[in-house]
Amino acid sequence: MVPDIDQLHREAVAAIRAAGDLKALEELRVHYTGRRSQLRQVLGSIGSLPADKRRSVGQSAGRAQKDIEAALGERQQVLKLEQEAGDTLDVTLPGRPPRQGQPHPLSATADELVDALRHMGFAVADGPEVEDEYHNFDALNTPADHPARDDHDTFYLDDGSLLRTHTSTVQIRIMETQPPPIRVLSVGRCYRKETVDATHHMIFHQIEGLYVDEGVSLADLKGTLTALAQRVLGERTQIRFRPHFFPFTEPSVEYDFSCTICDQRGEVEGRRCRVCKGTGWIEIGGAGMVDPNVFRHVGYDDEKFSGFAFGFGIERVAMIRHGIDDIRLFLESDMRFTRQFSS
Ligand code: PHE
Repeated sequence: MVPDIDQLHREAVAAIRAAGDLKALEELRVHYTGRRSQLRQVLGSIGSLPADKRRSVGQSAGRAQKDIEAALGERQQVLKLEQEAGDTLDVTLPGRPPRQGQPHPLSATADELVDALRHMGFAVADGPEVEDEYHNFDALNTPADHPARDDHDTFYLDDGSLLRTHTSTVQIRIMETQPPPIRVLSVGRCYRKETVDATHHMIFHQIEGLYVDEGVSLADLKGTLTALAQRVLGERTQIRFRPHFFPFTEPSVEYDFSCTICDQRGEVEGRRCRVCKGTGWIEIGGAGMVDPNVFRHVGYDDEKFSGFAFGFGIERVAMIRHGIDDIRLFLESDMRFTRQFSS
């Protein structure tokens, strides 16, 4: 059965002229002129047709083939030109501004804390995240059998070193290498074997301050922390000390900042304040006067010198400042999160 060649001819030319792109055109080429196309089959079978039909079928098939090939060539030229035009750069169009980055909310908060402390004369010190047991515990008056180690379980490496559980390690590293007076701060990543939830993470950041000189007192500590709090959370921020215990400070305190979200009223628009949970105070961190045993570990004269140290989590401060309610967001590197904080 010979297909209607004239119909095929018209249909093919119309389809080719309407082809939208080079890929569609190539598909049409295969369909209408490829090895398995109807037209090829007709051309291949002419020899077996009855003699009276050969001539007319051969002629119309030949014509169809010629026209279809011409249409393909024409359309290809047009589409190629169109594509090239699309690829050219139109220099008269306005530019696309590159997206501007901004500091991660943790970095921004850390930078502000560091700035505030530097203004008070604290120099920036650094220490390793992979620590040894001595600097993380023993030198901080926390021997192997001390129960305070239980709160600082961490990740241990094969060679016995560990991921530091606090930045207090830097206190030791600085005092080992420098004589008093000392006024340093340190910021960095810390690790603990925590079950991760909205307020705990096994990776977090701390900032630490250490001031050692003759005649340093707890009043100096309170003054320093008050100035720091007011600088980052506002002039009206107050601070309070609660007695506490740390092996490496004596006496030790935990300190709270007054809640600047509810202005210590404990409620916001008739609801219990989410940040201070209605108490008006926000727990921040630990501090105290450097324990004489620590001075002895680093070879300082504990009769002549006294000092204070404090440390706290940067996540906590960033969460209060920005109303962030899940600590996990800081480390997820989700741009939808980080883009929300312009510094
Ligand atoms: N290093 C303590 C902690 O992480 C905090 C602290 C720092 C306490 C300095 C006292 C002095 O829990």
